[in-house]
Amino acid sequence: MTHVPYETLRWVGGVDGHLVLLDQTLLPLQEQELECTSVDDVWGAIRRLSVRGAPAIGIAAAYGVVLGLQQATHDVGRFQQALKSTLEYLATSRPTAVNLFWALDRLRDRAAAMVGNHSGSEIHAALLEEARAIHAEDRAMCRAIGQNGAEFLQDGMGVLTHCNAGSLATSEYGTALAVIYTAQDQGKQLDVFVDETRPLLQGARLTTWELMRHGIATTLICDSMAAQVMREGRIGAVITGADRIAANGDVANKIGTYGVAQLARAHGIPFYVAAPSSTFDLRIATGDAIPIEQRPGEEITHGLGRQTAPDGVGVYNPAFDVTPAELIAALITERGVITPVSENRIRRTLGAGD
Ligand code: MRU
Repeated sequence: MTHVPYETLRWVGGVDGHLVLLDQTLLPLQEQELECTSVDDVWGAIRRLSVRGAPAIGIAAAYGVVLGLQQATHDVGRFQQALKSTLEYLATSRPTAVNLFWALDRLRDRAAAMVGNHSGSEIHAALLEEARAIHAEDRAMCRAIGQNGAEFLQDGMGVLTHCNAGSLATSEYGTALAVIYTAQDQGKQLDVFVDETRPLLQGARLTTWELMRHGIATTLICDSMAAQVMREGRIGAVITGADRIAANGDVANKIGTYGVAQLARAHGIPFYVAAPSSTFDLRIATGDAIPIEQRPGEEITHGLGRQTAPDGVGVYNPAFDVTPAELIAALITERGVITPVSENRIRRTLGAGD
């Protein structure tokens, strides 16, 4: 992989340190870092999408917990209260990506195992260690996803992706884009088509930016062009990431993904989803129970830097949709490929039992 001179997020210093993010709201025009020195900064960065993408949200939130406890380590009672309120607060930042709750649960469990026989400072240090572990594990998971999925992409293939499931959405290598990067590392030349991904243009602003930095042939299309591009025979596979995967394999991902999956089915093109085990929510039976984030109408009426709809128009702006498992050719995880998609295979591959 070509050297990438940017980091989606990094922790600077020890327990009293801070989080630095590449501010994704400014891409592709400005590569500017954002310093988060408080839990409020992290909450706002997640809500505003300065940091976004399911795994990156989880990592940022984990570091956010460390920030939220920096003033509270001296008194044990105060520490426990601060931990509880910090976890609850960060959980309100965005509702759909389960990686956020998965990361917060890990920190909660780590602290719970220490309360009673450790000081606040010791627990605080352990939580930083846990956040760093989540960050490092994500790197390894993304690499493994790339290795497991690359077999589905052949030299010369056209591949369509939606939203951004790349380096910017994770610790380093991405999920859907890790598959593309790994195929490229194996010497395969791919033609990657990128849906612009209205309303916030993660495809146009972020995915094209990072694919081009990786030297991948990249073509941007409007979301409404996907059917035509498929009909013209330009697409051999579709691959996206996921924000939450239910026990039956239904996938919540960026709004528009469901439509792309339907189009892929109609054109006989395999539709793949790449995601780490931290994106599965086996407590949820089907996609119907996945909470879908609703975002402000201004993202649609003023999305391109100027007003593009009349004052007072009604707007519906769900940020995610659910693709039914039956439309998904395979779920590509760090623990293996799940195909055909079924609850049994998901549980077996993730080692989660029945
Ligand atoms: O609203 P966003 O930009 O956070 O939505 C991101 C997506 O839908 C990604 O496709 C998903 O999180 C997968 S990231 C590896």
